[in-house]
Amino acid sequence: MPTPTPTPTPTPTPNPPAPGPEILAAFEAAKGFMPVGEGLALYAAAAEAGRLGLPLLEVGTYCGRSTILLAGAAREAGVTALTVDHHRGSEEQQPGWEYHDPETVDPELGVMDTLPTFRRTLHRAGLEDHVVALVGRSPKAAALWNSPLALVFIDGGHTDEHATADYEGWAPHVAEGGLLVIHDVFPDPVDEFTGQAPYRVYLRALASGAFKELSATDSLRVLRRTGDGI
Ligand SMILES: C[S@@+](CC[C@H](N)C(=O)[O-])C[C@H]1O[C@@H](n2cnc3c(N)ncnc32)[C@H](O)[C@@H]1O
Repeated sequence: MPTPTPTPTPTPTPNPPAPGPEILAAFEAAKGFMPVGEGLALYAAAAEAGRLGLPLLEVGTYCGRSTILLAGAAREAGVTALTVDHHRGSEEQQPGWEYHDPETVDPELGVMDTLPTFRRTLHRAGLEDHVVALVGRSPKAAALWNSPLALVFIDGGHTDEHATADYEGWAPHVAEGGLLVIHDVFPDPVDEFTGQAPYRVYLRALASGAFKELSATDSLRVLRRTGDGI
């Protein structure tokens, strides 16, 4: 267990890059959980990281709400957004759990399948050309990956097993100067709904010395890769 590090006071970036009105409208119309404030912070990070000229990668596509922002930023930067998901839903999205949406169940198989909704979302937003979707388990995809990324956004499973595997699988590929963004970081257990594994991963990233915190917007943390030793 990493030693807790105090959360530094976030430094707001003056005039951060913002999505155009059509990207913002598509984000707001998409099925998903991310509030607008966190979405704007994610877009700003993606736009900044995109200047490195390397791909942006998301773990946890769900129905494409946050992917729209990465795709919009990727389009502006002339890079590609990658998004990884097995599309069978996280633990808390399964039937009977708080975040379950019956519309995401495949009527033939009776199991969750968010891939069709994701594809419709991306098509409607006109962003298909800027995204490569990797359908499968994050650790399996990470094990095959071997090139630098401008940004890694971790928003997958919230168990320690999944969040840790996402960090260990993808964070090493963040290029020097690139960004690691972690969603659902809740330092206070009173605030969390789905577990504190993302918070533990965030602490581990800071304790590694390989990342420095750039900003905090609600539960979204943006860290910059500044060294080795993940
Ligand atoms: C919280 S949702 C992502 C929300 C999305 N980023 C958004 O803003 O709308 C988490 C997603 O992670 C996926 N997921 C969970 N564990 C995974 C794993 N080990 N590999 C791939 N996808 C996973 C789930 O299927 C689910 O769609």
